[in-house]
Amino acid sequence: MELFEKNDKRTHYCGTLSAADTGKRVCVLGWCQRQRDLGGLIFIDLRDRTGIVQLAFDENTEKSVFEKAFAVRAEFVLCAKGTVRPRGDGAVNDQLATGEIEVAVDELKILSQAQTPPFPIVENSTTNSETRMLYRFLDLRRPDMQRNLMARSKISGIARQYFAENGFIDIETPTLIKPTPEGARDYLVPSRVHPGCFYALPQSPQLYKQMLMYAGFDRYFQIARCYRDEDLRADRQPEFTQIDLEMSFGDEEDMIRINEGFLERVFRDFLHLPLKTPFPRITYAEAMRRFGSDKPDTRFGMELCDLSSVVKECGFSVFARCVADGGSVRGILVPGGASMSRKEIDSLGDFVKTYGAGGLAWYKNTQTPSSSFAKFLSGGEMQAILDAVGAAQGDLVLIVAAKDKVVFDSLGALRCEVAKRLEMIEAGRFDFLWVTEFPLLEYDEEDGRYYAKHHPFTMPMEEDMGKLSSDPGSVRSRAYDIVLNGTEIGGGSVRVHTVERQKQMFAALGISEEEAEKKFGFLLRALHYGVPPHLGLAYGLDRLVALLLGTEDIRDVIAFPKVQNASEPMSGCPCFPDDAALQELHLAVCRNAETAQGQANA
Ligand code: AMO
Repeated sequence: MELFEKNDKRTHYCGTLSAADTGKRVCVLGWCQRQRDLGGLIFIDLRDRTGIVQLAFDENTEKSVFEKAFAVRAEFVLCAKGTVRPRGDGAVNDQLATGEIEVAVDELKILSQAQTPPFPIVENSTTNSETRMLYRFLDLRRPDMQRNLMARSKISGIARQYFAENGFIDIETPTLIKPTPEGARDYLVPSRVHPGCFYALPQSPQLYKQMLMYAGFDRYFQIARCYRDEDLRADRQPEFTQIDLEMSFGDEEDMIRINEGFLERVFRDFLHLPLKTPFPRITYAEAMRRFGSDKPDTRFGMELCDLSSVVKECGFSVFARCVADGGSVRGILVPGGASMSRKEIDSLGDFVKTYGAGGLAWYKNTQTPSSSFAKFLSGGEMQAILDAVGAAQGDLVLIVAAKDKVVFDSLGALRCEVAKRLEMIEAGRFDFLWVTEFPLLEYDEEDGRYYAKHHPFTMPMEEDMGKLSSDPGSVRSRAYDIVLNGTEIGGGSVRVHTVERQKQMFAALGISEEEAEKKFGFLLRALHYGVPPHLGLAYGLDRLVALLLGTEDIRDVIAFPKVQNASEPMSGCPCFPDDAALQELHLAVCRNAETAQGQANA
């Protein structure tokens, strides 16, 4: 191994060299992508975060340098100095940005050697994700991962700049806190100084950013780490990042305008694309009715059609009974979907069952129609359904009959699944949408009580206040979400800022004064000291970046994400602390066989 010395500093990044640099003496530093030994000629592809340049060694190369090049293997770290020259005739590589040139090397240093990596460091890796996560430092060398993380950095930079320009002050809030009432499970951190007491890691900076409004900062901004002990999904990590905002003396229109401006800026400076604003807005009720989802993907149609009134007296008892029992029967029309095979349709049936539907009724509208349920209906009844959904020849009708929630969940997911399978989604399309007027409260069947849908500081809509005690489920809130291509990328609300309204909210939620004091005493006290009207919003930065880059898996834009079982294989966490650490924290851990086994398998 050779020393990295003072005059070994880079003059150019590999990927930035071009024919314009011909004749220049350069110093490039990076990793060996591959070494090709063609007898009297050796080529090394040298890679850094900007790309690859070819290093050339030939009969004019000094013997010691040539011998060193001969010894180089994949992932060795090199410092190469030499002269940029055009490649020989027929050797130009159109696939490579630097493909017109190469560096004729006269000085080569091997700065470190490498074992053969467990997988190739290439774009679009086919290596399984377990291995990639175990060797994440190698996985992150791959060009697509490098591009993703550099893109993320650029987007955070744009956010910092844009919000600063708009008067938002970047203020850090604590990460060892009292639990925030966001609804997910907290991560707890034991206190050494207060035996038996725990901090929580923040699910979001929610209460602190409100306190900053109480304190008169007027506009707050932070790129904040958030922690939620939830099950992982492609768009959900236990540890994630928000672009978090709060502002005083504004309303929904201000919030929407500022944020549309932000996204316009991201599109302009990052994607170099214009973005059409204002974005469409839709109420929660309309979103559910038309798309079966509060985060509708509007890049394709297949909207839900309520067939309840059409089928309520029909001969098919599953439909009629469902309506009589207070449920609904709704369907979607898949244009040209009649060409789907029976097997494919059956698999869609299995798909909706995962959302609690009993099954999927289907009708292929062809010359000789086939259907799972038409035989139970008269010709007139079937025609009424086809008319209601507007079916044409070659279309497929898919129907679910169940409780509203199940119908919405299953058809909402089904329309996305069908769109994906039938490749109905136009590539490169970005559909933004504001969803407004969310219900304030959500009834939990198991607990037999209402919970705040967002959090207990969300402002109810003034015109619905009269129903807060008589019909709490129908009260709408001043909460809004921003949706991109069917993913909720952000959400927020106008906050309660008076003691009276906050007490009404706690009462509606069945939170006693005692409980309110215990959980939110500091907030209630603070409300007595002059609180400005305020509102806020937080984006999921990981989700935003992933969608802008065209990936659905947020792990592609997080350097060191957790895997499915919430562990991080590279470093091996979580792990058992040693006994001394536990003692100091006044903790005893129950290490029964089962947990030990779980640990071993992790
Ligand atoms: P909310 O809980 O809706 O609101 O979160 C805001 C946004 O954060 C993203 N997000 C996540 N991203 C990755 N992994 C997760 N586990 C995860 N959970 C949420 C989503 C979501 O839209 N304090 C409020 C905001 C406010 O009212 O101002 C809040 O946290 O994109």
